[in-house]
Amino acid sequence: MIDQDKEEEIVCRCEDVSLKEILEAIDKGYTTLDQLKRYLRIGMGHCQGRTCMRLVAGILARRLGKKLDEIEWPTVRPPVLPVEIAKLAEVKTDD
Ligand code: FES
Repeated sequence: MIDQDKEEEIVCRCEDVSLKEILEAIDKGYTTLDQLKRYLRIGMGHCQGRTCMRLVAGILARRLGKKLDEIEWPTVRPPVLPVEIAKLAEVKTDD
């Protein structure tokens, strides 16, 4: 759990986002995890939010006076990896 008195504490280490920045964004009207993600890039770093997203959800819930299960989780997209054309050409079909 994050101490609300330590606003300079970094919550998203990958994107270097502090508790203070998150609280300010919520107060500006970014009141969903998706909005915070797009505005501050939380959850878009190397760990893809595995480290910070639950923490941010808790911060958001407390700031809005909601329960954690009332917070909607952001859209998750699977990672996309480039595939060589030669690999696709190797795929055998039943034809
Ligand atoms: S700690 Fe936030 S994306 Fe990794």
